[in-house]
Amino acid sequence: MEKEIIPINDLAYQHNLLLNEMLPLVEQVITSGRYVLGENVEKLEREIAKLCGVKYGVGVNSGTDALTLSLHALNIGRGDEVITSPFSFVASAESVIIVGARPIFADIDPLTFNISPDEIGKRISRRTKAIMPVHLFGQACDMGRITQLGKANSLLIIEDSAQAIAASHNGQPVCSFGDVGCLSFYPTKNLGAMGDGGMVLTSNEELYQRLRLMRCHGGKDYTFNFLGTNSRLDELQAAVLLVKLRYLEKWTEERRKNARFYKELLSDVEEITLPYEAQDNHHVYHQFTIRAKERDELRRYLLSEGIQTMVYYPCPLHLQPAFSYLGYKEGDFPQAEKAAKEVISLPVYPGLKEEQILRVANAIRRFYKRREI
Ligand SMILES: Cc1ncc(COP(=O)(O)O)c(C=O)c1O
Repeated sequence: MEKEIIPINDLAYQHNLLLNEMLPLVEQVITSGRYVLGENVEKLEREIAKLCGVKYGVGVNSGTDALTLSLHALNIGRGDEVITSPFSFVASAESVIIVGARPIFADIDPLTFNISPDEIGKRISRRTKAIMPVHLFGQACDMGRITQLGKANSLLIIEDSAQAIAASHNGQPVCSFGDVGCLSFYPTKNLGAMGDGGMVLTSNEELYQRLRLMRCHGGKDYTFNFLGTNSRLDELQAAVLLVKLRYLEKWTEERRKNARFYKELLSDVEEITLPYEAQDNHHVYHQFTIRAKERDELRRYLLSEGIQTMVYYPCPLHLQPAFSYLGYKEGDFPQAEKAAKEVISLPVYPGLKEEQILRVANAIRRFYKRREI
């Protein structure tokens, strides 16, 4: 008999469950005649700001735009350096380049995969204007030390929280440590829209007002004192997100429960390293990412068993062709390079059943010739 496929994510599951709740809201938007910015966007901005422990939210087109507009609004540009992680999605460093500044990479902590405060400290120069920590896979960076570094060196902090909505560090939510925090609502994110979307979070009122103008080309009533771009969240996405937001806490708990179950089932397999959750962190498991010996063979084997996995990320940013002009070379960030060779992300989405987790764990155990559970 054909084995049932275990996908890396199952968005249709989430959406089918909520269809009855979402359809009336979608209908309301369709009949309202207002589609870009509006009541739903404003409500979503208020609710997400509250969740993140900040005063204001500004809904934009994507997480990438949230980062780019934040940098721009903070006047970061030509001649400035921004320290960020080489082990991230391309958008983190890309946004720095879009505004004309230079990304300076600092290696990661091998336990959490997040940028290491010690490495940040070594890269601060007189050109450094900001730090952009990326809360990777759903776990907050060491924000205590990073904010200290920021203060001591008068640096701005832009949190790339695209993968970490509702994660916290010492009980404080991500997006509330820095000058701004940036979220992505890309469909696969823990809170995902049905298209692109993002939000900038801040408690700085002046910055908030500036960002609101910047997402509408920088101006108001056809007067443009400075320029921005077109990056407005739309009402349909906001309506969908408002419904899904009600389930975020429950879904985050499910992700955490799934992670605990994997950890229980795989704790004696010494060829793999399970995700490390720092004691003062509330990890939201956007990804359940392990390190594995013979990673590529394991991945092929799991696929032959009907189990989808992903490699986030197979190539660190400093070795990407698009960033070659920055002059980095192999060996510059050994921890990021090692992680890129070893990581594999397993399905962990809400809705994944216990028996499916057991099937994944047993396939991994079989691959390494361990007794099945
Ligand atoms: C760490 C990180 N930063 C930024 C982004 C960009 O977000 P978006 O795809 O919404 O532009 C993503 C997600 O795709 C991401 O994972």
